[in-house]
Amino acid sequence: METKIALVTGGNKGIGFEVCRELGKIGFKTILTARDEKRGLTAINKLKAEKIDCEFVLLDTSDLKSIENAFSIISANYPKLDVLINNAAVSLYKSSDILDASIENITETIYTNSLGPLFIVKIFSPLLKSGSRVINVSSGAGSICNGIGSYSPVYSTSKTFLNAITCQLSFSLKGKNIPVNSVDPGWVRTDMGGMAASRSVEKGAETIVWLASEAPIDLTGKFLRDKKEIHW
Ligand SMILES: NC(=O)c1ccc[n+]([C@@H]2O[C@H](COP(=O)([O-])OP(=O)(O)OC[C@H]3O[C@@H](n4cnc5c(N)ncnc54)[C@H](OP(=O)(O)O)[C@@H]3O)[C@@H](O)[C@H]2O)c1
Repeated sequence: METKIALVTGGNKGIGFEVCRELGKIGFKTILTARDEKRGLTAINKLKAEKIDCEFVLLDTSDLKSIENAFSIISANYPKLDVLINNAAVSLYKSSDILDASIENITETIYTNSLGPLFIVKIFSPLLKSGSRVINVSSGAGSICNGIGSYSPVYSTSKTFLNAITCQLSFSLKGKNIPVNSVDPGWVRTDMGGMAASRSVEKGAETIVWLASEAPIDLTGKFLRDKKEIHW
C-alpha cells in the first residue's frame, strides 16, 4: 500500500502537533508546516524520536507568498495530498466588543484563520485528487446559532467565516470526490485553550484524525464535534 500524505498547518504545537503524531501512528507521512522554522524543526525532531514519519515545510498561513513557496516545494516532491488540514489559528483579541479590536488585530486574525485556509486549498488544489480530504479546524465559538456572544469576537467571526468557506469548498469539490468539513475540537488544553480546559490534545485531535482516515468519503459540508454533526 502506498503511504498516504497529510499536510497540517500549525503543526509545531497543540492540536496540530498531536494530529501529526496520531496520523503518523496510523501510517501517514505528515508534512508538518509551521510559520517558524526553529519551532517547526523542534517539533519534527520530537516526532522523529517517536519514529513518526514526517518532514518540515515553512508555511505562514497569513502570507500568500509563503503559501505559494510551500506549494512549490511540496508539489515538486508529491503528486497528491491525501489529506489537507487547516489547523493553524490565532486568538489575539479576547475582550467582549468587536468594535474595540484594532484594525491590525482584525486583519491578522482573518488572514491567518480564514483567508489563509481558503488560499491554501486554492493554491494546493492541483494536489487534491479523488479521495483527498480537506479538514478545517474551526471552533464552537464560530457557530452562529450557539457561539455568538461576548467570547473573543474577532476570533469567533474568523471561525464563522471559515465555516462558510468549508461550505463553499465542499460544494466546489464534491464532484471531484473530495470531502471538506469543519471540526470543533472542543475546549482543549493547549496554549490557546489554557490549562483549565476540559479536554486533552488527544481528544481534541480525535475527530480530525477520524475525518482524515476512517470517516465516510461522502461525508462533506458538515460541522462536526466528537464525530457527530453539530449546528452551524
Ligand atoms: N484549544 C482549544 O480549546 C480550541 C478550541 C476550539 C478550536 N481550536 C482550534 O484548534 C486549532 C489548534 O489550536 P490549538 O489549541 O492547538 O492552539 P495553539 O496551541 O495556540 O497552536 C496554534 C498553532 O497555530 C500556529 N499558527 C498561528 N498563526 C500561524 C500562522 N500565521 N501561520 C502558521 N501557523 C500559525 C501556531 O504557531 P506558533 O507556535 O508559531 O504560534 C501553532 O502551531 C486552531 O484552529 C484553534 O482555533 C482550539
